Amino acid sequence: MKLKKFILSSLCVAMPVLLSTNAMAKVTLKLAHNLEQSHVVHQALAQMAKEVQEKSNGDLNIRIYPSGQMGGPRETIELIQNDALDMTKASASEMESFVKEFAVFSCPYLFDDEEHFKKVLFGPVGKEIADKTQNSGFNVIASYVAGTRSFYAKKPIHSPADMKGMKIRVVSTPTTNKLIELLNGSPAPIPFGEVYTALQQGVIDGAENNIPSYNQTRHSEVAKYYIEDQHTSVPDYLIVSSKTWNKLDDNQRKILQEAAKHSEEYQQKLWDEEVARSRAEAEKTGTTFIQVDKKPFRDALQPLYEDFAKDPNLAKIIESIKSQGNK
Ligand code: GCU
Repeated sequence: MKLKKFILSSLCVAMPVLLSTNAMAKVTLKLAHNLEQSHVVHQALAQMAKEVQEKSNGDLNIRIYPSGQMGGPRETIELIQNDALDMTKASASEMESFVKEFAVFSCPYLFDDEEHFKKVLFGPVGKEIADKTQNSGFNVIASYVAGTRSFYAKKPIHSPADMKGMKIRVVSTPTTNKLIELLNGSPAPIPFGEVYTALQQGVIDGAENNIPSYNQTRHSEVAKYYIEDQHTSVPDYLIVSSKTWNKLDDNQRKILQEAAKHSEEYQQKLWDEEVARSRAEAEKTGTTFIQVDKKPFRDALQPLYEDFAKDPNLAKIIESIKSQGNK
């Protein structure tokens, strides 16, 4: 009897202590992004969340809010800066308004090919750009390829002359706005999630994106011409709030960092297949893919390089990117 009482009373004291240490050790990070769940970046993030949970034995968890539930990248970056969110995904263009060096990725026809792009993104130049976010309250922990961006519209486009007066949705930045203007169009700053309706209602005449995003958002239903001018290669980034990062212990940081690295590899593996799949699906549902001579586009966009040349810092990055080319 005495023994039973002793065990019971010890449990009563010990249990809450154990429970509370456990409860304190468990961390759930909130990650919001604006892509569909079918997008390969979402799949890579979901895999990362699984790996983090498994490797931490459930002490570190990531809850993902996809499809723009918490707004677009501008809003989610601001939520991070206001300590209301731990992680998000943003494209280089969306990062440009927070850290100007990311603008180099909106430079048209900067990369010779995919190999050149990957060499830059995952090499020292990419790292140098990514490291610049630290004063803005967040760190880049993974970079994702996003193919090339091309125009798509309700009518065929064969050259910049055909774009005269067309309203084209862009991820609005000084660089992307000027890019559209140089091609005779007018830029429309519409959030990703509202592009479908804007196209459907004729508020805009076209937009620009890679083939998976064009197809998965069903923009292909309302803009049936995809023009393969491939003007830019704009990567996506996974970012984590610096405050959140600093709150994690060394082991949690290591687990998250490694899982983020694996998500980069996984996403690259899925990407090419997804482009082919999305292209076939869009074609099946009535998209006409138009091959164009890129030279008139390239020539018309040349003044953007002159703008970048005026900023010694950006000019230097552009030069080191070019020096890593294959041609
Ligand atoms: C791509 C990119 C996204 C971006 C979107 C857009 O899909 O992967 O990060 O938000 O384009 O045009 O808004």
